[in-house]
Amino acid sequence: MRQTLTQEFAKIYGASDGLRFFFAPGRVNLIGEHTDYNGGHVFPCALTIGTYAAVKERTDKIVNFYSMNIPTSGVISIDLNNELKPSKELRWAAYPAGVIWAFAQKGMKLDHGFDILFNGNIPNSSGLSSSASIEVLTGFTLRSLYGFDISNVDLALIGQFSENKFNGMNCGIMDQFASSMGKKDHAIFLDCATLNYEYASVKMPDAKIVITNSKVKHHLVDSAYNDRRNESEQALKDLQTVCNIKTLGDLTNEEYDKHADVIKDPVCKKRAKHAVYENQRTIEAVKALAAGDIKHFGELMNQSHISLRDDYEVSCKEIDVLVDSAWKQPGVVGSRITGGGFGGCTVSIVKNEYIDAFIENVGKEYTEKTGLTAEFYVVEIGDGPYEL
Ligand code: GLA
Repeated sequence: MRQTLTQEFAKIYGASDGLRFFFAPGRVNLIGEHTDYNGGHVFPCALTIGTYAAVKERTDKIVNFYSMNIPTSGVISIDLNNELKPSKELRWAAYPAGVIWAFAQKGMKLDHGFDILFNGNIPNSSGLSSSASIEVLTGFTLRSLYGFDISNVDLALIGQFSENKFNGMNCGIMDQFASSMGKKDHAIFLDCATLNYEYASVKMPDAKIVITNSKVKHHLVDSAYNDRRNESEQALKDLQTVCNIKTLGDLTNEEYDKHADVIKDPVCKKRAKHAVYENQRTIEAVKALAAGDIKHFGELMNQSHISLRDDYEVSCKEIDVLVDSAWKQPGVVGSRITGGGFGGCTVSIVKNEYIDAFIENVGKEYTEKTGLTAEFYVVEIGDGPYEL
């Protein structure tokens, strides 16, 4: 990777001496979907795929961005002397530029610029958090180059802040946290209300995590996501008239059932049901895993999918074909949509000896029913950001 980055850097920027190389991972979430911004728990892990960067400091105040994944955008530049504002001209570089903006907002201004070249190996629009990986990578790079005294949790928060305020996507903390705090062979059991977290081993002797990419990404994903957030917040407001709670994550299933009728809008009611039940499912799933009860963990993954499909309504036809097909295959412990939704990927746990048949059968059925070709990744769980 260093060699590829060095060669390309020399081509784009003319020189390649004194380069530094960094990496930050993408993520997959095992369970706990659309719970992060509802004050609940999530259980994601960092992948060994992600985004790489080669960087060289400059003496002036220019920052140049180039992505090997989007060469048609060419080099995109900003001048640190000018106030940074979201603009269409930034295109994909709105992600790293947003992080520079967020650092400045938090009092960490850059006194000189740099040239940076990105190269990612997360499949495009797959819902495996390529944007969070770019944000965490940029933050990690800035910390390394300028010596800012901030933690990896800060890197996650700054990444989320930049995505919310600079890029207009009102995401929760899960993706950036999974990328910045990843640990090899472990998932992160994160309480999004407090940011308390524990690592749980997901190294299973006889099964693997298989991600299936539907290769579809429906339009208006960001606006549909922001709608779900607003609907959950509306439900919370209604519930707060009768319960003393800060977030939907404060409720047990029984408490929710008891008070649900106070939620006026039927759509908001379904959203809240998902948020509450999914949070409790996540807590139960982590306990099941710790007890070695992977069968129950898988059942909870399946229930998670049904709830995301019917109550939170963030699945789509193509993803449901993948999940329905996965559920029919021998050796499948559990399968569900993962990430923000409306396309993207499913995550399945599959017993080792059935993985080949799983890929063949699900792939075939998917093509028959949708005309599309799914991609399968038998993934490894990796570490958070590092310098190469
Ligand atoms: C996206 C967001 C996350 C989280 C998931 C759904 O990935 O960026 O914050 O809300 O959707 O669980």
